[in-house]
Amino acid sequence: MSEPKPTYITAALDLTETKSAEAIDTFRDEWDFLSNFFPVPVEIEGIIYPTTEHAFQAMKTREVGERYSVRDAATPAVAKRKGKKVSLRENWHTERFAVMEQVLRAKFSAPHLRDKLLATGDRFLIEGNTWRDTTWGMVRDKTTGEWRGRNELGKLLMKLRNEIRNESNDDARVDKTTDGSDGELITLALKMREVAYAPYSRYHVGAAVRTDSGATFGGCNVENASYGLCNCAERTAIFSAVATGARVITEVVVATDDGGSPCGACRQVLAEFAPRDAPLRVVLINKAGNMVRQTTIAELLPLAFNLQP
Ligand code: THU
Repeated sequence: MSEPKPTYITAALDLTETKSAEAIDTFRDEWDFLSNFFPVPVEIEGIIYPTTEHAFQAMKTREVGERYSVRDAATPAVAKRKGKKVSLRENWHTERFAVMEQVLRAKFSAPHLRDKLLATGDRFLIEGNTWRDTTWGMVRDKTTGEWRGRNELGKLLMKLRNEIRNESNDDARVDKTTDGSDGELITLALKMREVAYAPYSRYHVGAAVRTDSGATFGGCNVENASYGLCNCAERTAIFSAVATGARVITEVVVATDDGGSPCGACRQVLAEFAPRDAPLRVVLINKAGNMVRQTTIAELLPLAFNLQP
């Protein structure tokens, strides 16, 4: 006997965009990355958790010791059990939705997961489940085949998917609207920003340099638990260029959240490789790829230290 075709109880959901697409109603197998049990390090309020389940359960309490204890749970299932015993923070019942959004945002800042989420297209996302969770997921009625539940996890995932899709459309626009010479460096700097390793500051920086031969090199900031070892995006990019034999950099694009400008150390390192007879152009862009400022290294670092004859 074939199973009854599922119908979705969707009264509370905004389905205007997704109703025609076939639903993904299990977060297993090829869709396991949608589950909160999926392993991916997420950093929330200074603690790195092995899954979003660990993070979410830990955030139920404001006691830091209890958060660490949840973080150390061997599996997400154990973290979930531990989460039932923590000293609950005030207003958790209402704040849990914002916290879930926060942990999912941390999860889907990982480029490979963003891509996988985008690849679900317009399909409706439901954590269909057998553990009777009708808040975050939906449960299928055995006799009628109907799905029931609020689907709050699915709704948040679809909301993030929309945001990511809009952001990547913005990135694509950058290339078309800036003049050709900057377009390539801007695209590279934004791409580099996506792979920035910045779990401590959460300030993601991407840089792209062009050398006098026209070659381009990218770099991102690379942080370390021993903070003094952090390397800026600009220097990562410059060192990559120099390691191929390049000695002159003609242009650098730096991508940050807000169009922030290079630190003093990077200015000095850029000055080392500036052309002797032409300005080294510095372009600062924000995360949407919009140019915030255009300047030169001579303007950013007048009287740079110099040992060259
Ligand atoms: N950072 C850069 O990558 N470039 C700069 O010019 C300024 C700072 C990084 C270093 C660190 O990972 C984070 O931003 C916060 O300081």
